[in-house]
Amino acid sequence: PLRSVLPPEITSRKGGVPLVVLTAYTTPVARLVDPHCDIALVGDSVGMVLHGLPSTIGVTLEMMILHGRAVVRGLSRAMAVIDMPFGSYEESPQQAFRNASRLMAETGAPSVKLEGGVHMAETIAFLTARGVPVMAHVGLTPQSINTLGGYKVVGRDADAARVMADAKACEAAGAFSLVLEKVPVGLSGDITRAVRIPTIGIGAGPDCDGQVLVVDDMLGLFTDFRPKFVKRYAELGSLADEAIATYAAEVRARTFPAAEHGFADKVKS
Ligand code: KIV
Ligand code: NA
Repeated sequence: PLRSVLPPEITSRKGGVPLVVLTAYTTPVARLVDPHCDIALVGDSVGMVLHGLPSTIGVTLEMMILHGRAVVRGLSRAMAVIDMPFGSYEESPQQAFRNASRLMAETGAPSVKLEGGVHMAETIAFLTARGVPVMAHVGLTPQSINTLGGYKVVGRDADAARVMADAKACEAAGAFSLVLEKVPVGLSGDITRAVRIPTIGIGAGPDCDGQVLVVDDMLGLFTDFRPKFVKRYAELGSLADEAIATYAAEVRARTFPAAEHGFADKVKS
């Protein structure tokens, strides 16, 4: 079904009330995110958060399609964006179109996201001209962890000009919005003022046109590591730990199940 929010409307919100974005990977979480957020991002972070992978490198197109479908089923107003996984778009604009069109056709999401700036501009233009709205992602790009050498801030000192050029190249290529990850606060403000598309920050300070967090991080469900930019709005991980510990103790003590959880042998007459 046609979603109420489509990429051009997101672009038109540049400079207005900040765009609210969270990741979602499943139908129930999409239902929680939908009433409060403008965009539900099916991030390739799903590989680390739900599948226990050490990085996003091992995430496949099939995983993104399955999680994308689940999320789209749970949305009625927020817009879905699906990450193109590592290896599914870097080779050529044609390869990117082939896989982006599968992501859109097989999930119903109206847009995709890919990592890259200047070197991906040709691909962003190719996709956009052919009906695939692209959210670009610059600064720290986790799919390049092995060439970057770590999850460090990107865009300090001499690197600032390169990140600015990446942002401008994505805008010129037709990206409908732009994620800035782990970019210093001053630079992300400069980029936000320099481009006409909305910037959506994660660890990029308050001057962006929107903010995104990984939902399991902000709920305290994913605690393997905790980047400085994550604010925990709940501690669902410790709540779950307490609940599971209580269940285990009650099973061992035979206090669960109680009478009300069982079924009588005879139907009452
Ligand atoms: O995969 C992801 O969750 C992302 C966001 C953190 C922007 O790309
Ligand atoms: Na991602």
